[in-house]
Amino acid sequence: MAPNATVHDPLSPSMPKPTISPPLIAGVPHAAIARPVPLEVTVEARHRYEILVERGLLARYGALLRSQVGAVSVAVLTDHDVHARYGAALLESLARAGLTAETLLVSPGEQSKSLEVLGVLLERLAAISFDRRGVIVNFGGGVICDLGGFLASTYMRGVAYVNFSTTLIGQVDASVGGKVAVNSPVAKNLIGAFHHPRHVAGDPELLATLTHRDFRSGMAEAIKVAIISGPELFATLEQRQAAVTARDPDVLGSVILEAARLKVELLRPDPYEQDLQRALNLGHTLGHPIETEMGYRGIKHGEAVAIGMGVATAIALEKELIPPSAARRIFDLLQAYDLLGFEEPIDAARVVERVRYIRLIRGKHLYFVLPEDVGRVRITDALEDQDLVRGFADYALEVRRRIGR
Ligand SMILES: NC(=O)c1ccc[n+]([C@@H]2O[C@H](COP(=O)([O-])OP(=O)(O)OC[C@H]3O[C@@H](n4cnc5c(N)ncnc54)[C@H](O)[C@@H]3O)[C@@H](O)[C@H]2O)c1
Ligand SMILES: [Zn+2]
Repeated sequence: MAPNATVHDPLSPSMPKPTISPPLIAGVPHAAIARPVPLEVTVEARHRYEILVERGLLARYGALLRSQVGAVSVAVLTDHDVHARYGAALLESLARAGLTAETLLVSPGEQSKSLEVLGVLLERLAAISFDRRGVIVNFGGGVICDLGGFLASTYMRGVAYVNFSTTLIGQVDASVGGKVAVNSPVAKNLIGAFHHPRHVAGDPELLATLTHRDFRSGMAEAIKVAIISGPELFATLEQRQAAVTARDPDVLGSVILEAARLKVELLRPDPYEQDLQRALNLGHTLGHPIETEMGYRGIKHGEAVAIGMGVATAIALEKELIPPSAARRIFDLLQAYDLLGFEEPIDAARVVERVRYIRLIRGKHLYFVLPEDVGRVRITDALEDQDLVRGFADYALEVRRRIGR
């Protein structure tokens, strides 16, 4: 206890008032520390990592990982389906490089991005005595990248991880940027952190086995970044649609790298998302509440984002912020990749209700990203609820005109 401090028991009313004078620190007389001296803490926050997307990378991956992280313990986080398809190939590749790995398995799908699953995984890491020099290999789609990144950020206050993403969403978007999270029943990605991977890897050959819905879901994120700042990528997606849809690994590989490059450029000025006015939220301000409304079932993330982009385009058109020819190109591209319309009926009023809730927890301002042209967006907080309801209705009309549902 510091000298001159009287013990104060708040439960005892008879105790005298405490008199506390500055403590004597390491022999420094009181007078010398009478005025508080501000302390400054500088935290080094530089991160540099590679994004490697290459055909056939899976077979070489063990050697790559070993060359970057050394002979450390490895925990592979993956889902049952990815494990069944590609788990053996990954483990063999790691073994050839002299790395032995524990495998942590979760159920496939968005439901695994939960606090419950995170808790089980943390216990599991502790049970296998995973040490803080080890590395977690996230081997799967965006769910695995988000969940495993958050796991890595919380276990022992942070261990290293890498993303080897096996879905298009993972490769073009989720594996890059260090945003990691799990969902809560009230809002998507509500519980999370920023924790950057040691590297990002992907093999476009693995995309051959994605379902049509998972593939188009990934295309939605590629189209998103093209609308925001990639008119050339947008044109490539228009012109090479046949090869992209056929999942030609070379064409896909270059689309993925260009989409990831555009994302990195957009993140550069604001890596920790201080600014909530982010162009990368295009399609998400409505897409996330749509997913929450559907209970994270029945709709894929990219499908919800595509609806969000369609509604944003309809709003921009109605407000005459975008030339009709550019809006037509956006609707055409969404249609070309089978991203137009609703797989299941969506209650627009309830989605807008959820938007209102998010606005509340964000402190009134909620920013919407609207396309102004192909390759350019505008960010506004001036949209009213009725603009959103109208946007939904206009978009639904556009969908009915084009595909009759
Ligand atoms: N952190 C970010 O910046 C960011 C960005 C975009 C998306 N996300 C998140 O990503 C998630 C969606 O990603 P996702 O669609 O990849 O989800 P996912 O990980 O659930 O993968 C979708 C499905 O594809 C299967 N799969 C994975 N690889 C496969 C392969 N090669 N062949 C066959 N099937 C395969 C999985 O088993 C799963 O059923 C969402 O939770 C979203 O919020 C995060
Ligand atoms: Zn997204």
